[in-house]
Amino acid sequence: EDPRINGIKTKIRVVPDFPKKGIMFQDITTVLLDPKAFKDTIDLFVERYRDKNISVVAGIEARGFLFGPPIALAIGAKFVPLRKPKKLPGETIFEEYELEYGNDRLEMHVGAVEAGDRALVVDDLIATGGTLCAAINLLERVGAEVVECACVIELPELKPYVQVGGDFYEDIPLRKLISTLEN
Ligand code: PRP
Ligand code: MG
Repeated sequence: EDPRINGIKTKIRVVPDFPKKGIMFQDITTVLLDPKAFKDTIDLFVERYRDKNISVVAGIEARGFLFGPPIALAIGAKFVPLRKPKKLPGETIFEEYELEYGNDRLEMHVGAVEAGDRALVVDDLIATGGTLCAAINLLERVGAEVVECACVIELPELKPYVQVGGDFYEDIPLRKLISTLEN
């Protein structure tokens, strides 16, 4: 295993019972406080994606906005924010996804991503995979190819390869589409 990975892991702060009892919150703000750990995190993804002809990095609000832009700059791709409802001023398309309680949605500007774009989706963490699936759907609806999704952290106990509702993504377990620090 790359020696940088353990260094990054030691900087992730685990906060018990946040935002509610029983949740072990994985806090990446403590990675951002350490310039070496933050740079190593970005570098590991850049090394994986720099030769993959990625034309667009799509970052998921909010924590995907922390890691997506530096990766996009380093690999020479455009950056497109996938935002929570009613934040984007232009014409948008949206995808809804399930949360533990209720629904949320991600929106994307029409025209930001075009048919033929090769996309990398970036977020801090995958739990159920519902958020990533919504992002993948948005990108594919406009004709982009999702090359992979990159997350810093994967919560293994939540089985991301079985997404919300028990559906698989296009018969491919989502697990195969994601890379994390450790794979
Ligand atoms: C968290 C996390 C991922 C998502 C993962 O974001 O940052 O985006 O949940 O969960 P899932 O795999 O079960 O869909 P959250 O919606 O809490 O908001 P934030 O990033 O704006 O803080
Ligand atoms: Mg998030």
